[in-house]
Amino acid sequence: MAGSDVQALVVENEQQGMFQVARAAFTSADVFEAEYEELFNKCWLYVGHESEVSKNGDYVRRTIARRNLIFNRDSDGRLNAFFNTCPHRGAEVCREQKGNAKHFQCFYHGWIFANNGSLKSQPGADRYSVHFKEQQRGNLVAVPRFANYRGLCFVNFSQTTVSIEEYLGNAREYLDLVLDQAESGLVAVNGMQEYSLRANWKLLVENSIDGYHAATTHSTYLDYLANIHGKGMNKVGLEGVGTKLDNGHAVIEYSAPWGRPIANWVPAWGEQGKVEVDAIRARLEELHGKEKADRIALKNRNLLIFPNLVINDIMALTFRTFFPTAPNSLHVTGWAMAPQTESEWARKYRLDNFLEFLGPGGFATPDDVEALESCQSGYQNGMEQHVQWNDMSKGMGMEAGYSDEIQMRSFWSEWGRRIQPAIDRKGARK
Ligand code: FES
Ligand SMILES: [Fe+2]
Repeated sequence: MAGSDVQALVVENEQQGMFQVARAAFTSADVFEAEYEELFNKCWLYVGHESEVSKNGDYVRRTIARRNLIFNRDSDGRLNAFFNTCPHRGAEVCREQKGNAKHFQCFYHGWIFANNGSLKSQPGADRYSVHFKEQQRGNLVAVPRFANYRGLCFVNFSQTTVSIEEYLGNAREYLDLVLDQAESGLVAVNGMQEYSLRANWKLLVENSIDGYHAATTHSTYLDYLANIHGKGMNKVGLEGVGTKLDNGHAVIEYSAPWGRPIANWVPAWGEQGKVEVDAIRARLEELHGKEKADRIALKNRNLLIFPNLVINDIMALTFRTFFPTAPNSLHVTGWAMAPQTESEWARKYRLDNFLEFLGPGGFATPDDVEALESCQSGYQNGMEQHVQWNDMSKGMGMEAGYSDEIQMRSFWSEWGRRIQPAIDRKGARK
């Protein structure tokens, strides 16, 4: 690999309690390309939530793995993801970020497509042979695979035969705990947030499931909670467990001192809050039984769906997905999620909590961005040739705890399994 003699990217030695990741994995252009070939072109990728296109005709534009897509609900209510490129010569057929439309018209030569992708009309249609229509050469092209898991929509750019359910594997247990919070279904609240970082995308993967950094990086937030709420916080520490899930997915599940609108009251929310939260809790128990309701309500979950969907079910609920634009930069898209129907009170606290910690101007995100960009600087300009490895061994050979790194090793093992052969092939050709 250019600039480094490191060939093995992920090294694991159970006996020596060693798990290392080569820093070249964060800087190499070969790795970056291999990630698009082996991960983003082959894995199921989150494209959006069905609530973003709730009415027939609704559409949003998405950039997924560098592809420009239209994610929409057609006039028959079917969800689709089309490549946003005219089959005639390639111009974008949808130039708005979102809207509602029965048709998409290409502005170049004026072809018009129904919102199910079929070509409706074209200027000078009589100058095309009958075969053109018969062979459906004029229709928009849909992504090879599309799947909807309980409202979460995924695309796959390969003709994979692995269903979304198989792909999710035992991560479904955790995903279902998130989805079961909302009897009415989830909704993406008020658009989305987008921002970029000067860091490798895998740093954000790690960070999203990293219990170890909370007390240090986010000490300001924890101090703030203590100062503002004083005795108004729950008397529980950050405690729980990290878990390796199937296919590179990973999760940490834990208790924390903050309140959760689903449905963990804190004294700072006062009596009205208690009435609200008790009602949510009672309904959860009715639907799911006490044990499961307690887990849904009291436990926080940071869930990674391999390779790049993060679900933070913490003091608010957020979905985030992100793609690298270069080895040292990434672009993030995030959504605040909420039950479709919830009281004004619950929605207010949910969104306050979201902005306070998870929003781009909140207590967490800027601190995390600073940490991740700082890590990236540590790998560059030849430093990575002298200090070649990152350590990922915390908790190896021991019972997993909240602040260990087993969940990150889950990601990295799967990442290495998919990427290493491509890097080896490339090395062999050099
Ligand atoms: S490029 Fe779209 S109609 Fe020609
Ligand atoms: Fe963080």
